[in-house]
Amino acid sequence: MFNKKIFSFFAVFFLCFLFTGANDLYARDGAALFTQNKCNACHQVEGPATDKTIEDLLRRNGPELWYAGSKFRPGFLGKWLADPQPIRPMEYYSLTEPNKNDHPRLPSEEAKAVAAYLMTLTSGDVGGAGIVARKNIKGKKVFAKEFSCYGCHQMRSRGHIMGGLSGPSLAGARERLNPEWVYAYMVRPKVFKPVKDMPVYSGLVNDKKMRNLSEYVSNLD
Ligand code: HEC
Ligand code: HEC
Repeated sequence: MFNKKIFSFFAVFFLCFLFTGANDLYARDGAALFTQNKCNACHQVEGPATDKTIEDLLRRNGPELWYAGSKFRPGFLGKWLADPQPIRPMEYYSLTEPNKNDHPRLPSEEAKAVAAYLMTLTSGDVGGAGIVARKNIKGKKVFAKEFSCYGCHQMRSRGHIMGGLSGPSLAGARERLNPEWVYAYMVRPKVFKPVKDMPVYSGLVNDKKMRNLSEYVSNLD
C-alpha cells in the first residue's frame, strides 16, 4: 500500500517532468526553426511595440508576433502555419493589391514546434477580464449599428462573406482569436499598435459595451 503510493507519486512526478520538459524542448526547436526559416525578416518577436510613425509601420513586412501567445487560440497557429490561408483580404497595408496567398508554409511537424514557440510569447496586458466567446446580441448591435465595424472587416453572415477589405477578416475569429485579447485590443489598442489604421474606440463607449462587443467578435464563425 505504502510502496504503491510512493510509486504512483514518482510516476506522476516523472510524467509531469517528461511532459513539461518535452514541451519546452519543442518550443526551443520552434524558436530555432523560426530563425532558420527567416521568419524574423518580416515579424517582430520582441515587445513592447516600438512604432512611432506611419513610416515605421509601413516598413514592416508582416504583423508583429511578440504577443502571439496572447492573441491566438491554442491550436490555431499549428494548423495555419502548415496551411496558411489569407487573413487580410489585401496585401499587408495595401489598399489596392489583393492578398497573393503566398505566405511561407511549414511541414506540419515544424509548424507545431513553431506554434509552441509562438504561444510562449505573451503580453501581461491580456487576460483576467472574464471575456468568453459567445453569441452576444448586444455586442452584435454595437458591431453593426453603432460602429459599422464591417465597413473595414469581413465576416460570415448566413454562409456568405461580406464586409470591407481594409482590415483583417474577422470570419473565423472563433477559431483564431483569444477573446481576452480582443477585449484588451479594443480597450488599450496602443499597447499592441501604437500607430494604427483602425479607429480607436476606447473612451467612446462604456466598458459594458466593450465587453459585449469583444464577446460577439470573438464568436464570429
Ligand atoms: C516575406 C514576409 C514574411 C515572411 C518571411 C513570413 N511571414 Fe508570416 N506573415 C506575413 C504577412 C504579410 C502576414 C499577414 C498574412 C495575412 O493576413 O493573410 C503574415 C502572417 C503571419 C501570422 C499571422 C499573424 C496575424 O497577426 O495575423 C503568423 C503566425 C506568421 N505570419 C508566422 C510566420 C512564420 C512562423 C514564418 C516563418 C516560417 C513567417 N510568418 C514568415 C509575412 C511574412
Ligand atoms: C476604418 C477601418 C476600420 C474600422 C471601422 C474598424 N477596424 Fe478593426 N481593424 C482595422 C485595421 C486596419 C486593423 C489592423 C490593425 C491596424 O492596422 O490597426 C484592424 C484590426 C482589428 C482587429 C484585430 C484583428 C487581427 O486579426 O489582428 C479586431 C479584433 C478589430 N479590428 C475589431 C474591430 C471592431 C470590433 C470594430 C468596430 C468597433 C472595428 N474593428 C472597426 C480597420 C478598421
